[in-house]
Amino acid sequence: MSQFWKPGTERPRLVDDEEGGILLYTASSSSSSGFGYGSLEKQRQRLPVYKYKTAILYSVETHATTIIVGETGSGKTTQIPQYLKEAGWAEGGRMIACTQPRRLAVQAVATRVAEEMDVKLGEEVGYTIRFEDITNEELTRVKFLTDGVLLREMMDDPLLSKYSVIMVDEAHERSLSTDILLGLLKKIQRRRPELRIIISSATIEAKSMAAFFNTRRRREEEQGPTKEPAILSVEGRGFNVEIFYVDDPVSDYVRSAVSTVMSIHDQERMGDILVFLTGQDDIDTAIQLLTEEAQSSGKQGLVSVPLYSGLPRADQDLVFSPTPRGKRKVIFSTNIAETSLTLEGIVYVVDSGFSKQRFYNPISDIENLVVAPISKASARQRAGRAGRVRPGKCFRLYTEDYFSNEMSVVGIPEIQRSNLVSCVIQLKALGIDNILGFDWPASPSPESMIRALEVLYSLGVLDDDAKLTSPTGFQVAEIPLDPLISKMILASCEFGCSEEIITIAAVLSIQSIWIPVRGVQKQLDEAKLRFAAAEGDHVTFLNVYKGFIQSNKSSKWCHKNFINYHAMRKVIEVREQLKRITQRLGIGLKSCEGDIQAVKKAITAGFFANAARLEPFSHNGMYKTLRTSQEVYIHPSSVLFRVNPKFIVYHSLVSTDRQYMRNVITIDPSWLTEAAPHFYQKQLHSSIPQ
Ligand code: CDP
Ligand code: MG
Repeated sequence: MSQFWKPGTERPRLVDDEEGGILLYTASSSSSSGFGYGSLEKQRQRLPVYKYKTAILYSVETHATTIIVGETGSGKTTQIPQYLKEAGWAEGGRMIACTQPRRLAVQAVATRVAEEMDVKLGEEVGYTIRFEDITNEELTRVKFLTDGVLLREMMDDPLLSKYSVIMVDEAHERSLSTDILLGLLKKIQRRRPELRIIISSATIEAKSMAAFFNTRRRREEEQGPTKEPAILSVEGRGFNVEIFYVDDPVSDYVRSAVSTVMSIHDQERMGDILVFLTGQDDIDTAIQLLTEEAQSSGKQGLVSVPLYSGLPRADQDLVFSPTPRGKRKVIFSTNIAETSLTLEGIVYVVDSGFSKQRFYNPISDIENLVVAPISKASARQRAGRAGRVRPGKCFRLYTEDYFSNEMSVVGIPEIQRSNLVSCVIQLKALGIDNILGFDWPASPSPESMIRALEVLYSLGVLDDDAKLTSPTGFQVAEIPLDPLISKMILASCEFGCSEEIITIAAVLSIQSIWIPVRGVQKQLDEAKLRFAAAEGDHVTFLNVYKGFIQSNKSSKWCHKNFINYHAMRKVIEVREQLKRITQRLGIGLKSCEGDIQAVKKAITAGFFANAARLEPFSHNGMYKTLRTSQEVYIHPSSVLFRVNPKFIVYHSLVSTDRQYMRNVITIDPSWLTEAAPHFYQKQLHSSIPQ
């Protein structure tokens, strides 16, 4: 088999592993002919889930909870809500909800379902993600939304009374919001016996989920639907996927992935390639490398497309549009393509073995997004993406030995590796006081809970009895942003700079407003200098925003200044939404007219917990966090990189070889004790000079 693949010196092998080197995946036959796939209705009927339509509807009718397990692409997400609608679950003003952990998936499936039902998106079928509501109060009957948005809806409607069925999709992902939602739905079920819950996923451990939802009490108490959950498994047709491993570990998975793509293109039959990388940065690098390599070797016929959440709408369409005849599409994706989205035409998968994951350490109180190894369950899912259309191949950029002996079997639920500040505030806002005693599908650590309570208390969001304060606590809970940002917005009112702060909040909610360009770092740095403010990144954002508005929101201006035009459009959009939210909360918008100190004080009021101090005598720009003395550094993308002011607060940390602080601003340390006297009590006499 090694003639198929020679990236550098690494030689792939078809391995006789526990699956005999061949994984059998169930997959739909909807598109076995490649791309010309007949009418939408015919396609629908060819999906594996179609055969189970009656069984699914019967189960939903008779059971409070139905768990549906089926391979990616079998039709769970797009079909089941339509079956429910046809069966009358959306009659009498009721609605059907289907949640997804990812925003992009919400948009993609809602678009597809509207198309299948031949209705206008936003009318009968709609979707809601944070800052984007494409629904119609009167018309929408089937609604796709993120699990986070559904949690938010509970603040106005605690029993989610407008929904007759709630389908919690992609439950195997165990996202933080999915787990909170499952815990709350279990509570709601007791109050609303007529509510139906569907939990669907690609690989869920159905038994433990069923045990969690098994609320059966004594027989004679029972009325209505059976309380014991039903488990349905949707079988589909399968195509073989051959698995190849590298002989020796690769040192640079991005380069390795690119050379693997090149050799597939050289040696394998036509068919699209899906490459799993970790994030936008990786993906952009890989696309650039591939373009260069293809150019230098005169190879034609490759079309590369990125896929990650936050991708502009136009680029999303490229991912889903059919590959032009004679071309080979290469999709570089984050793990969003693992199970959330069905991509047509994929025959080859290249798996880096990594994804970006959140990790939180309650001792150091540091949360990081790190590139970390995936689990075996994920690796199998990724491989499975190659077997939908015809037999496929999966090239794993790790050794077989590593897969067998070192990879963990399943991932850890996000709730056990996250900072819980947002989670706690949401539960509190829903009136759940005993958070430690809450019925979780997987319990978070008590240390993380305590840390979260501590921060919320210092933010003035919780009182001595750990109840939401009024009005601050309720207001912070109302704003759909990280509580630290929400607090910053509330504080800006006091400091008279809410106009500026909502701009900053909008920029912080976007991944990056700069265009990442390899090889022209110098020009990018120079462009940044045009906007750079001595006070730090947040103030720099204000300068960029001002420039953009003055340019009349020109894309040309953005291009000239290495600023991402789409990101700036999004900033404007989010800012508008924040304006509306603040107005609803009765916060008047006011500009501080250039009083930057006011802006910095408002930021500190939200982010005091993220304060760091330059190590005296440090030659390499080492900082230590004030709270837990962790070693941290200013991120090279910051305008304060190498400037190294003495005291700063940062927005977030990223970890690569070191812990880097992204988006930092200079502060006066006395503001910390002003903003959060309790939080910095101990440090008062040690770290912070008076
Ligand atoms: O949820 P599950 O992974 O089981 O499947 P699905 O997302 O409902 O997809 C079922 C079928 O719909 C796939 O086989 C795709 O052919 C098609 N689909 C599509 O063409 N475009 C989308 N945006 C979503 C699904
Ligand atoms: Mg799905």
